[in-house]
Amino acid sequence: MSSVESQQRVLSGMRPTGKLHLGHYHGVLKNWVELQHDFDCFFFVADWHALTTHYENPHVIEQSVWDMVIDWLAAGVNPGSATMFIQSRVPEHAELHLLLSMITPLGWLERVPTYKDQQEKLKEKDLATYGFLGYPLLQSADILMYRAGRVPVGADQVSHVEMTREVARRFNHLYGKDPGYEDQAEAAIQKMGKKNAKLYRGLRTRFLEQGDEEALETAQAIIQAQQNVSLGDRERLFGYIEGGGKVILPEPHPLLTPAAKMPGLDGQKMSKSYGNTIGLREDPDTVVKKIRTMQTDPQRVRLTDPGDPDKCPVWQLHEVYSDESTKKWVQEGCRSAGIGCLDCKKPVIEAVLAEQKPIHERAKQYEDDPELVRSIIAEGTEKARDAAKATLEEVRRAMGLSYR
Ligand code: TRP
Ligand code: SF4
Repeated sequence: MSSVESQQRVLSGMRPTGKLHLGHYHGVLKNWVELQHDFDCFFFVADWHALTTHYENPHVIEQSVWDMVIDWLAAGVNPGSATMFIQSRVPEHAELHLLLSMITPLGWLERVPTYKDQQEKLKEKDLATYGFLGYPLLQSADILMYRAGRVPVGADQVSHVEMTREVARRFNHLYGKDPGYEDQAEAAIQKMGKKNAKLYRGLRTRFLEQGDEEALETAQAIIQAQQNVSLGDRERLFGYIEGGGKVILPEPHPLLTPAAKMPGLDGQKMSKSYGNTIGLREDPDTVVKKIRTMQTDPQRVRLTDPGDPDKCPVWQLHEVYSDESTKKWVQEGCRSAGIGCLDCKKPVIEAVLAEQKPIHERAKQYEDDPELVRSIIAEGTEKARDAAKATLEEVRRAMGLSYR
């Protein structure tokens, strides 16, 4: 796969640690659904990543895997456009992780902000494990395996993609050179003639030692002018000025997922740990009940008390779901005690139910036929594995592991 194709490749993963809710939908899934039209997308269930934090109760993972895939399909991820698979079914991820671990300085892992943050946050768990320290490198293997140019992630994961770039750069620097690469480059320099060879060497040193871009450009112009030097040698001379060889693992770019504005039932960000969620496939009766019993402006005890939408989590849902005229109706009706809170909640309930209707419809065929879901994953896994095997073969060769 060339560097240009790599720019078309998108890869992202999700940890199976529970049912998805509307926060995931508004934050991540809608974004995936859009990306699948424009890019060659690979989406996977990061079950090994889930094990790094849930190794004591892996049953949560098992239950969540298939639920999560159905959630993706229900949200509109289309198996005809995107490749979906399960990480542990592509054991090549483990081999690449191991090989990359050989060249990854410990300090890079220790310095990733999530390492200390998560240990602090999840104090009840012992995360002083080898696997947890290696978490970002496993993620690097996931990304580099598919030579993905773009990686949709939330802000908290950007540092993992940054580290992946460092790892790729280090890998290419160490192994992107064929054996005898330097000798061949030196021989090519001789072919330019004494005067040009001397010039080239001087410019190369200036670029490598001082990062002098002008020296780089001048040297490139000199190479270009060498009509009697073969194309292969000219390519070699180009690569050699910058000190590198081939790009085996292209550096990925984070595609920052805009922070989800989805509020939960209590006005805080929707999150499982706050217990304020509406499930992506929550049944309609429960949705109605959850919204009806939602806390409103605490000052508004009686219908005749005027309220303040700014102090009410229901208003935040209107911000997500309602048009301008409905919002105006809420603002005026609330502040003048002209509407009751149950009236106010009605358009929100309707909007959530309307949003979930096509989700339930899409989910139904998969809920009724688990084999269908398994076959979608089997097909995606096969495709992912082919891509993974191709990368690993190159990686093994580059690292000198292709002896028989
Ligand atoms: N670490 C990611 C998360 O917690 C999940 C993940 C694993 C991932 N591997 C990945 C995301 C590769 C993007 C690319 O959300
Ligand atoms: Fe909240 Fe609406 Fe009741 Fe005002 S009328 S307190 S915005 S639910």
